[in-house]
Amino acid sequence: MSAVAFQTTTQAPDDLTDSDVAAGVKTSLVKMETKDLKVFYGEKPALQGVDLEILPNRVTALIGPSGCGKSTYIRSLNRMNDIITTCRVEGSVLLDGEDIYEAGQDVVRLRSRIGMVFQKPNPFPKSIYDNVAYGPSIHGMVSCKEELDQIVRDSLTRAGLWDEISDRLDAPGTSLSGGQQQRLCIARAISVKPEVILMDEPCSALDPIATARIEDLIFELKAQYTIVIVTHSMQQARRLSDKTAYFLLGNIIEHGDTQRVFEDPQHESTRDYVMGRIG
Ligand SMILES: Nc1ncnc2c1ncn2[C@@H]1O[C@H](COP(=O)(O)OP(=O)(O)O)[C@@H](O)[C@H]1O
Ligand SMILES: [Mg+2]
Repeated sequence: MSAVAFQTTTQAPDDLTDSDVAAGVKTSLVKMETKDLKVFYGEKPALQGVDLEILPNRVTALIGPSGCGKSTYIRSLNRMNDIITTCRVEGSVLLDGEDIYEAGQDVVRLRSRIGMVFQKPNPFPKSIYDNVAYGPSIHGMVSCKEELDQIVRDSLTRAGLWDEISDRLDAPGTSLSGGQQQRLCIARAISVKPEVILMDEPCSALDPIATARIEDLIFELKAQYTIVIVTHSMQQARRLSDKTAYFLLGNIIEHGDTQRVFEDPQHESTRDYVMGRIG
């Protein structure tokens, strides 16, 4: 949309500048963006100025050898690093064009917009039902038990777990198998209607069958959510993601369409990594 066309409509405010229009168009095309993101643990830098755009309704895979900053990066996207006392963040992280580190941001609300699923399934020591009901309850999203029941049912259905556990909602979440627990954690994440879901190696503790179920699920979820996933599995990154970013020593060396990054890497270190020569 050109600025001129936009300004000739009767509803456009008179003082709309070209850069406002450009920013508006960009916001609709980019869900999250980091600009010159630096993260330190004490004096030690873990990220050295990372720029990345994360597109809506796409799966973005973060790959790279251990210790290169993937977890640090993904945690910075919903301020999970805040809880690490030695950790300091510089640069910016934008969600719909707004900096999530700005003073006055409500971090609890932010984490309901940007959910997270961890490497090891970590259900609360509560029933299956309560694991999923907890978020919507504390965020005041429901006014009655029926509404809460509906959200629990919807979330478990979308996480592909309802049919397996609908007759034992009162059982402890921890009584489920590893793969089921991870799907429960995904149900818990989506129960608060997030916009972005961050997953840090969500399948690394799972067997191949449970992994395949989670991969199918991620594929379905991207129609509704923006997904960022850290994975050590090159096959998983290729199967699942639309975009791939290759991290090395706290920097993104290369990023772009997944197929391009894997089939025609521009950097030698990316080539070595995706071909399994380092890592
Ligand atoms: N809580 C922490 N305290 C201090 N250093 C950390 C912490 N978490 C990560 N690091 C360091 O930051 C660097 C990046 O780690 P991390 O983000 O976990 O990498 P990756 O997920 O790619 O393996 C490593 O050098 C690691 O030792
Ligand atoms: Mg990690």
